[in-house]
Order: sequence, then C-alpha cells, then structure tokens
Amino acid sequence: HTHIIDSHQFSREDLNTILAATEHVVRLKEQNRLFGVLEGRLMASLFFESSTRTRLSFEAAMHRLGGRIITTVGFQFSSISKGETLYDTMKMIEAYADIAVIRHPVEGSSRIAAGAVNIPIINAGDGAGQHPTQALLDLYTIVRERGLPDKKRIAFIGDLKFGRTIHSLVKLLTHYETEFVFISPVDLALPESYRKELRSLGIHFEETEDLKAMWDCDVAYITRIQEERFADRADYERLKDSYVVNRAFVQASRHPTLLLHPLPRVNELSTDVDDMPNAAYFRQAAYGVDVRMALLCLCLQAELPDL
Ligand code: CP
Repeated sequence: HTHIIDSHQFSREDLNTILAATEHVVRLKEQNRLFGVLEGRLMASLFFESSTRTRLSFEAAMHRLGGRIITTVGFQFSSISKGETLYDTMKMIEAYADIAVIRHPVEGSSRIAAGAVNIPIINAGDGAGQHPTQALLDLYTIVRERGLPDKKRIAFIGDLKFGRTIHSLVKLLTHYETEFVFISPVDLALPESYRKELRSLGIHFEETEDLKAMWDCDVAYITRIQEERFADRADYERLKDSYVVNRAFVQASRHPTLLLHPLPRVNELSTDVDDMPNAAYFRQAAYGVDVRMALLCLCLQAELPDL
C-alpha cells in the first residue's frame, strides 16, 4: 500500500508526481469535474490531537471527490479511553474504511498504524515527529507562488526543535538546491539528527538567533512556539515571545519575502501583516485541500479524468 508516513520516503520524482497531480486536480476543479472520482470510497479521519486545517481539509477533499468519511475526534470519544491499543483500534478501522488519516501525539504512531493494517495510512502529524502532508502543501505553495525551490533562500523561524512541519519540509527541500537559514533561540534549534543529515548530503546551512536574517530570504517559514510540546512550563514562558513578525518589521526589508506559516499562530505573526501581498499563509492553507485531493487519489490509485 502507498502510505504517507514521513517526508524521508519521497524522491524528487515522487515530488514531481505529487506536484503534477495537484495541478491536475486544480485544473479539474476549475472545470467542475472532480466529483465522483472517489465515489464509493470511505476515509477514516482519526484525530487524537486537536486540529482545524488538517482534519477539515482532508474531510473537505474527500467530500469534494465524492467519497465519504467516518471520523473520531479526541481520545475521549474512542475506546482508546477504555484502554484499547492503537493496534487494535487500527485493526477495526481496516474493516470499516479504505484509507485512514491519523493524527496522534506519540512520535512514530502512524508507522505503528501502518504496520497494523492493509489499507493506506496517511500521517496527519505524529507528536514532534513528522507532518508530511503539510510539507507537501508547503512545497506546492512555494512552487505555485515563487517557482521551484532551487537556488531559493528559505528561512525557518521559531520552534525548529519540536516543529514537525519544519522537520518534514526541510527533508523535502533537500531534493532541491535550497539555501537553508535556520532562525531560532539556541534552545529550540533544529535537532542534531536533521543537521547531521544535511551535512551528510553536503548541504550548507546557516543558523542564527537574529530574526533580521529573514530579510534577504525568498521565503520565510514562520512557526509557533508550541506550548504543548514543552515538558517544563518555565521553558515555554521564557521562549514563547522570542520572535514577533509584524508589518513594520516586514516593511523594513526591501526584499519581497514570501511569508508562510503552517498555522495556527499565536503572537509570532501579527494580524497587521495579513493584507500584505506577500502574506501567503491563508492561501497556503487553502491549497491544502487541492494537495490532499491529489494525495487521496494517488494513495487510493484512483484515475483522475484526462484534462
Ligand atoms: N497546519 C496544521 O496542521 O494545522 P492544524 O493543527 O489546525 O491541523
């Protein structure tokens, strides 16, 4: 089965296929020709950790393709709250659905889920691990708004330690000649495993605590300091306001840096940036439906009608 578990699974050829399939979906959508592509298919939407965009965009994607969904949200509404294991839960889901999308607070949980079942599993975020479909929609956004990431200078800002969207996107961008600039407090720097991987691929990267480093970048990928990932609340309180990107700060740069954010945001990205032309984060979230329609079709081996 074609599972989507971790950004490491994709080659550049796979990324080309996904980008092309998303463009195909966008063209079919313009022609109002998508409905029915996944008719008769059922997607299980399993969200054991809170979500707005990922769950709703996957569910919207399935509905727009004419498929159906079953869903469970939060541990309290599944029998996991009675002590049932994830393995047993997934065994049941396999009997009910053709594909399952899972978000879970434990790193590696979607890999366990994939090992338990005979249907495709899509990782919708596993703790501080990976969020590969977010990275794919981030990549699509960069390509759509600015072209391929080759030779582009891309800044990653905020919680690079626990940020699964960062972990997943960095890996995808290693397939391009991306120039990486990592901006974070030292305590929230990119994990050593990712730095080691970049070095082993011969990829040069810059690390700094200075937010102004985003001014000469083509893309700035801003992220939230995630309260829910800190074991010690005092650390969160100390680090939570490390950076604030506001309109005055963005205007101080002459470079038209594309501003991305996986959302949700807290204080790190001011609302006075929202109506600037380079503020692409709400468009980014909207493209998520198109990318996820393409991914559902690819995982379920559904043919898209010719254009
Ligand atoms: N970007 C993202 O994963 O958002 P949600 O947590 O709202 O799904």
